[in-house]
Amino acid sequence: MPIQRKTSAKKAIRKTHPASQTGGGARSSHSSPKNPSLILLEDPALRSRNTFATPQFHSAFSPGFLHPGSSISVSHFTLQDVSRILEEASELEAMPVFRRAQRFAKRRVALLFYESSTRTRTSFELAAKSLGADTVLVSALSSSIEKGESLKDTGITLRSLGAECIILRHPNSGAPYVLGRATGLPILNAGDGSHEHPSQALLDLRTILAHFPADNGTAARRKPSITDRTLDGITVTIVGDILHSRVARSNALLLPRLGARVLFCGPEMLLPGFAANIGPGVEIERSFERALRLSNVVIMLRIQKERLSGLQIDLEDYMEQYQLHMERLAAYAPTAMILHPGPMIRGLEITSEVADGPNSAVAEQVYHGSIIRMALLARALDASPKKNEQSSRHR
Ligand code: MLT
Repeated sequence: MPIQRKTSAKKAIRKTHPASQTGGGARSSHSSPKNPSLILLEDPALRSRNTFATPQFHSAFSPGFLHPGSSISVSHFTLQDVSRILEEASELEAMPVFRRAQRFAKRRVALLFYESSTRTRTSFELAAKSLGADTVLVSALSSSIEKGESLKDTGITLRSLGAECIILRHPNSGAPYVLGRATGLPILNAGDGSHEHPSQALLDLRTILAHFPADNGTAARRKPSITDRTLDGITVTIVGDILHSRVARSNALLLPRLGARVLFCGPEMLLPGFAANIGPGVEIERSFERALRLSNVVIMLRIQKERLSGLQIDLEDYMEQYQLHMERLAAYAPTAMILHPGPMIRGLEITSEVADGPNSAVAEQVYHGSIIRMALLARALDASPKKNEQSSRHR
């Protein structure tokens, strides 16, 4: 079967994005409403943090100033935390809908989105609503953020309006720490720059466990006891724009701790050699065919045009080497499970035939996303006293 190519995808991406991922504190005073990434840089602790180059960014310890219900980095979760989250997810999944809607009735959850999103935003919002919470969405283009309001001030405003938890997506790596420190609220990281996307890694894990259960399927999902051997023998290959992918990073920080072997696969430009330093259990395999032969699970990634900062990719060449099409899949990994965090660029990193084919678990991922996000919200709101309890304590 020939490789499917879209004419529009043939041309090289030649966009230049001056706003850096990590930014520089010096620019904070020139915050531009057009560029929200410059706004949070009032926090000097976040200057020039390259998420691959500075391993301490992935400290296994959640900084003391963060609310314990926060989910900012998978490296803050112990394996016991991961077990508890998966267990909570299964309990909420099995709970009658009307009972679930009582769980956090009238609690207030804010979604603060500085970048666009379909799956993450919708599933967090529906997850909060199905737990009975009231939600409010603030997005960069329809709020005072557009007029230059800082992340800190936006967070404080949301807290004053009764938000008990904030779900944040931001183009800057580290933004959730700024918001957590400014508000004291639990922050759920819905993707920060090229740093992390913890709920995506957890939903990928749940999808993988549903296909490769540690013991027997149902038992493993209902009472998943996570250990450092849960994913023994499972090789997960992550393919494409690893350099800019928070999804790759969160998965690479989580899955090897459960025993999985993680292979990063892609061209040098999108996968520099030092990426394997992210942690133990992660290796680089440049040949897609060799990686596929070893894989039980393949996570395909989009090229993140918005983060290329001048990098020029020859898409024709890229697709030749790294597009997942049916011929390649059938020849090298006929039984592998195919995942993609979305949005999928059909005809570029993946063909429609594969995306909609029998190996694809992309729709299942979306389902598991809504369940995992309920569990993360429950963890955040359980750890955070109700507003009226708080005020009676202050009286
Ligand atoms: C993300 O937010 O990181 C997405 O789920 C993946 C992407 O944007 O390609």
